[in-house]
Parts: sequence; C-alpha cells; structure tokens
Amino acid sequence: MNRVSVVTGGTSGIGQGIVEKLLAHSEAGDRIFVNYAHNEERADTFLKSLSPEQREKVVLVKADMSSYEEMLSFVKKIKDCTDHVDWLVSNVGISTYAKYEDYTFEEWNRIVNTNLSVPVFLIKELRPVMTEGGSVLFMGSYAGQQAYSSSLVYGVTKAAIHFLTKSLVKEFESKSITVNALAPGFIQTPWHVNRSRESYDRINKKIALHRFGQIEEVADMAYSILTNGYMNGSIVDIHGGYDYF
Ligand SMILES: NC(=O)c1ccc[n+]([C@@H]2O[C@H](COP(=O)([O-])OP(=O)(O)OC[C@H]3O[C@@H](n4cnc5c(N)ncnc54)[C@H](OP(=O)(O)O)[C@@H]3O)[C@@H](O)[C@H]2O)c1
Repeated sequence: MNRVSVVTGGTSGIGQGIVEKLLAHSEAGDRIFVNYAHNEERADTFLKSLSPEQREKVVLVKADMSSYEEMLSFVKKIKDCTDHVDWLVSNVGISTYAKYEDYTFEEWNRIVNTNLSVPVFLIKELRPVMTEGGSVLFMGSYAGQQAYSSSLVYGVTKAAIHFLTKSLVKEFESKSITVNALAPGFIQTPWHVNRSRESYDRINKKIALHRFGQIEEVADMAYSILTNGYMNGSIVDIHGGYDYF
C-alpha cells in the first residue's frame, strides 16, 4: 500500500525539513498532505523547490490550524483523496513574546487553540483512517520541559502536548499506532528571523554545543521516530545540551 503522510505547518522550517526527508525516502505513489495557513509566497517557493516527481507526491492544503472549522475542512480534503493515513506529523506551533501582564484572553486562546486544542481534534478526526502500525508525531518543545522565561503560554501548551502524547498511547493501542513527540531546543528556522546577535550569543552560551540546531538534525530524528516500530509514548529532547552546565 502506498504511504500517506500528513504534515501540518510543512512549508517552512522544521515541518518543511520533515516533508523533504519524507520525500527523500518516498516511493512512487506515496502522498504527503502538506498544510500551511498564511504565507502563499513561501508555500509557492517550497513547491517550486521540488522536482517534478516530488511535486506529484505533495498535496498542498491551505487551512488555518487555529480554527476548528478549517481543521475539519483540511481533514475532509484528506479523506476525499485517500482512505488511509500512515504517518501524521502535528507540527504547527506559534508563540508570543508578550509579557504575562499584557496577555489578553483572546491571544491566550489563539495560541492554545493552535498549539493544543486543534491538534487534539485533528488527531481525533484522522484516527479512524489511520493505518494499523502507523505513527503520530507531535512537535513539542524543550520549552515544555523547562520553564523558559520567554513565553509562558508557549511552554504551557508544549508541556500539554508532551502529556497528550503519553495519554494518547492507550487510545491508539488497539491499532498498534505509536505516538511520540520531539522536544527541540533552539533550532535555526525562520521562526528566529528577528532575533538579535546579542540574543543568539546569550542563548548559545547556555548550549553545550554553542549553536542552534539545524533543521536537518531535527528532520532526521523525526524520520527515525516515525520508522521506529518500538518507540511509543516517548518525548525526545534534541537541544545540543541546553543548560547542562
Ligand atoms: N524553531 C525552534 O527553535 C523550535 C524549537 C522548539 C520547537 N519548535 C516547534 O517546531 C514547530 C515548527 O517551528 P518552526 O521553527 O519550523 O516554525 P516556522 O519556520 O515559523 O514554520 C511554521 C510553519 O507553520 C505554518 N503555520 C503557522 N501558523 C499556522 C496555522 N495557524 N495553521 C497552519 N499552518 C500554520 C507556517 O506557514 P504559514 O506561515 O504560511 O501559515 C509554516 O509552514 C512549532 O511547533 C514550534 O513550536 C520550534
């Protein structure tokens, strides 16, 4: 059977790296549903960067994963095109650098919806069509393991994603589907585009390897987890030795 994968937030950074990794290991007839929400130009550039054979395997779907309704239409599109999903990578995540005292309830809800609530229901909707022996991978964060000062709501949602990962293991037991999460530290993606040199230097001092991680390093780890049949309920840190000294 051809392999069908779903990657949310797959047109940039870590998500794009995972899509490229899946494509590199794909066979004729495999399909990858790649989602994004805002940046058409970036999605277009991503598609154009693929070879014609790779492009044939990619179904690009615009849907805002902060919205329950748009998530449902994304799921409908997937179900209209295929009767099964083997690998589901829930990668979309957003943050804010607003201070806690400046939080609004609306902004809190937008981030909780995007990082936690919509992924919970995306997985619930896709579970019936997931293949026996398939795999779910969440993009958590080391900020969900350690309480970074930078973003309270982000850390709380990522910690919840890690707990969700463990909680869903039982829910997928009957189909032998594995559920795992990656918890990256600082990874060099467009997410950090506005970070100052000073900020990089300050963070690099806290990392034993003194650098941000590369997208490929995270994508390699993601692929290892997806293809490892015995890893289940694991939260895998990948942070270059953050705060280990
Ligand atoms: N970079 C890091 O240091 C780091 C560390 C730990 C964990 N992570 C996690 O890794 C994941 C990816 O981060 P990244 O650094 O690769 O980010 P990125 O380069 O900013 O890419 C984010 C991707 O998500 C899409 N996206 C954003 N909001 C969306 C929404 N509401 N609905 C659908 N798609 C949406 C973006 O496309 P559009 O803009 O077109 O919507 C883009 O494709 C996130 O969950 C993040 O929390 C990142």
